[in-house]
Amino acid sequence: MAKQAISTPVIRRLPRYYRFLGELELEKMERISSKELARRMGLSASQIRQDFNCFGGFGQQGYGYNVSELREKIGFILGVNEKTGVILIGAGNLGKAVATHMDFRKRGCELIGIFDSNPELGSVTVAGLPVHSMDKLTAFCEQSKPQVAVLCIPKGAAQELADQLISLGIRGFWNFSHFDLRINNPQIIVENVHLGDSLMTLAYCMHREDECSSLQDE
Ligand code: NAI
Repeated sequence: MAKQAISTPVIRRLPRYYRFLGELELEKMERISSKELARRMGLSASQIRQDFNCFGGFGQQGYGYNVSELREKIGFILGVNEKTGVILIGAGNLGKAVATHMDFRKRGCELIGIFDSNPELGSVTVAGLPVHSMDKLTAFCEQSKPQVAVLCIPKGAAQELADQLISLGIRGFWNFSHFDLRINNPQIIVENVHLGDSLMTLAYCMHREDECSSLQDE
């Protein structure tokens, strides 16, 4: 039987469930009802039940969810125990910040290589990894087979580089470059990150409170 596609909004809520459940674990909470989880997360209980039903339910109706078990199951769905190889291209201000502050391992990924076209970065180490020159990229990908690339390069360089990376086996892009990549292969996943959009959403809601119930109700 064909697998049922899970909608993007549901997928986008999964990391948030995982994060909240982690906080509940730290509070030593063992069980939680969908109503209480909904209250804490600013969602509705029916939304939570609908989301969880996409994955078979998880729950004991009326008895609440076991916090640790639920977190583990959602973590499994998110693949947090995987070790997907990640490379980061562009070790400038943003690239260094992402490499240093993002805990890739907690999210099922492992940062295994950093690359930059600036030869002056050749002797620099970021997040414990040497910054390789771009002429090492092909051999590195052939040997280490990374699956994901983080793009922290200027937008003008993004498309050409993405095409090259796809030919080297990259299947997913975490794209900070502010360029909408044109990729005709549905098996390649692109997650665009625009911090500016997030800030503008906040600014909109600051100016139009009456039109904006809550940014958390997503
Ligand atoms: P930066 O100039 O500090 O770093 C860019 C790095 O990319 C440099 O080290 C440069 O040598 C390298 N680079 C340039 N072309 C390359 C290529 N073809 N191959 C490999 N390396 C290459 O710039 P910064 O501040 O780190 O920003 C990087 C990009 O991220 C910019 O396009 C910026 O607009 C964007 N950005 C995106 C944000 C977002 O929310 N998506 C937030 C902040 C910046």
